[in-house]
Amino acid sequence: MIVFEDVTVRYRGVPALEGVNLTIQEGALGVLVGPSGSGKSTLIRLVNRLVEPDRGRVLVRGIDVMALDPPELRRSIGYVIQSVGLFPHRTVARNIATVPRLLGWPRARIDAQVDAMLELVRLDGSFRHRYPDELSGGQAQRVGLARALAAEPDILLMDEPFGAVDPITRRELQGELTRIHRETGKTILLVTHDPREALDLATLIVVLRAGHIVAASRPEILAHEPGAFARDLFGADTLILDRLRRRHVGAFVSGEAQDEDPSISAEAPLSEALLCMMETGRERLRVVDAEGRAMGSITFHAILETAP
Ligand SMILES: Nc1ncnc2c1ncn2[C@@H]1O[C@H](COP(=O)(O)OP(=O)(O)O)[C@@H](O)[C@H]1O
Ligand SMILES: [Mg+2]
Repeated sequence: MIVFEDVTVRYRGVPALEGVNLTIQEGALGVLVGPSGSGKSTLIRLVNRLVEPDRGRVLVRGIDVMALDPPELRRSIGYVIQSVGLFPHRTVARNIATVPRLLGWPRARIDAQVDAMLELVRLDGSFRHRYPDELSGGQAQRVGLARALAAEPDILLMDEPFGAVDPITRRELQGELTRIHRETGKTILLVTHDPREALDLATLIVVLRAGHIVAASRPEILAHEPGAFARDLFGADTLILDRLRRRHVGAFVSGEAQDEDPSISAEAPLSEALLCMMETGRERLRVVDAEGRAMGSITFHAILETAP
């Protein structure tokens, strides 16, 4: 668990964060969003004491970070940044082994861990001996993630980790992160500029504006009642699609199925039903179950009813 208690940070007297109160529960995936300069990186860097509060307290696992030894604290927390920051003259394996080596793990354990981490981020063993300049952006980002996870930290900080990769690779990496979070139950704090990334990944979305938290809620709640600032930040279209993607066709079935209507699976999200209606020009679809049996119809009107 990470707790910020009434935290203020000033740089040369100018506040970057003011009176911030926030709790990231154990196992949560907190996503920080906000305009450039709103204090996202500052908030994340308080956790590993790269930045220190001028007022208030930051508690990591129940202990005030100011009472902890900074290098030891940093070794216990994974940290991934946009520029990756791999050591250029070290192989992938040596990069991944950085913190385990600092911690003095025996050689055999380090070797096994490097293999396990490569597998976790889905890079095959041939990558062990490559150097960072022999990797694509997406591969380098995977190695950065493997390095951050190598000493098995229970907390992972990620500052715009997928900002510099192409959209397809980004989707892939987001999928890997969701899987890793689900499999390991780590507490993750991530900064992003991408509204869809925030809505897809977060268990808690934190919206920052000029050093203040203006919203902290579950994504489905934020998508439903964003407030004016978050609506501008995320874009109304993204929020509407997100609401539709969280609901499934099966919950909106009514009336008899009509054989002449286009079919859609009951498990499909409402966004897919809407898309199918737009593509076929039909305002009613035939809903089928997993075995292809007709269950009834879904209408355009039923989708409209979900508007807030
Ligand atoms: N080391 C620093 N020295 C002076 N000002 C800084 C420093 N780091 C950040 N700032 C300022 O603090 C504010 C918040 O920065 P930051 O936390 O990096 O925002 P974000 O990550 O949301 O873009 C900005 O106005 C930025 O210019
Ligand atoms: Mg930043």
